[in-house]
Amino acid sequence: MSSDPGLFQTIYTTRALRRFKPDGVPDAVLFQLFDAAIRASSGQNAQDWRFIIIRDAEVKRQLREWAMEGWSRYSARYGSDEDIQALPRNQRLSLLSVRDLAMHLETVPVIVAVLGMKARHSTPGGSTFPAVQNFQLAARAMGLGSSIFNLPMREQLNGMLGIPENNQLYCLIPLGYPTDNQGRLNRKPVKTVVYNERFGEPWPFAEGQPDDGWSDRWAPG
Ligand SMILES: Cc1cc2nc3c(=O)[nH]c(=O)nc-3n(C[C@H](O)[C@H](O)[C@H](O)COP(=O)(O)O)c2cc1C
Repeated sequence: MSSDPGLFQTIYTTRALRRFKPDGVPDAVLFQLFDAAIRASSGQNAQDWRFIIIRDAEVKRQLREWAMEGWSRYSARYGSDEDIQALPRNQRLSLLSVRDLAMHLETVPVIVAVLGMKARHSTPGGSTFPAVQNFQLAARAMGLGSSIFNLPMREQLNGMLGIPENNQLYCLIPLGYPTDNQGRLNRKPVKTVVYNERFGEPWPFAEGQPDDGWSDRWAPG
């Protein structure tokens, strides 16, 4: 197990990582991630999130097929392969990592399906995604990488995983030991998304902060 980098460094450096070494994820490590995930809050403390660990080769093969269909539709909006190659660097690299994940989904060590109860909460997903965030941060703290990957999601997946009618599939999380590095995140500055008292009113303190916030403190370099 790698040493925990600490909360703020973890938050400031947890990227969506989509390429993995073939190494499996030990059950004790997975347990730690789920045990952290279920510490999250949920409406009325309902805790009706459910998680399915997928390691079966045949299920992953099917997911790959669906992911590739999803990729064809998704990438079409960017045009041809040459058009994608001509995109700005960050966008191109991010898209190519999505494509690589779809292409190699079969070889991802673990895929976690995340479920919640249908129609139970007034903010759908609001009682599930806090657990997803805990899971991803815990994964990063333990030297793993993950992302949310919904390209393979479709109705048939519910049948394949035996998901009951009253549950909803919220997302899939491919997980493993990454080959890419964690690192600084590309985010809009606080001053552009946080207002003072009324929508649109600048918050003077944030106006005086660097555009990349306090990344230098927690994710130097
Ligand atoms: C609700 C949700 C759905 C997402 N769906 C996908 C997806 O289908 N495919 C994918 O590659 N990434 C997906 N992501 C990951 C985001 O694209 C990624 O976190 C974002 O681009 C920021 O990347 P970064 O954290 O590496 O900076 C999703 C994230 C969230 C929160």
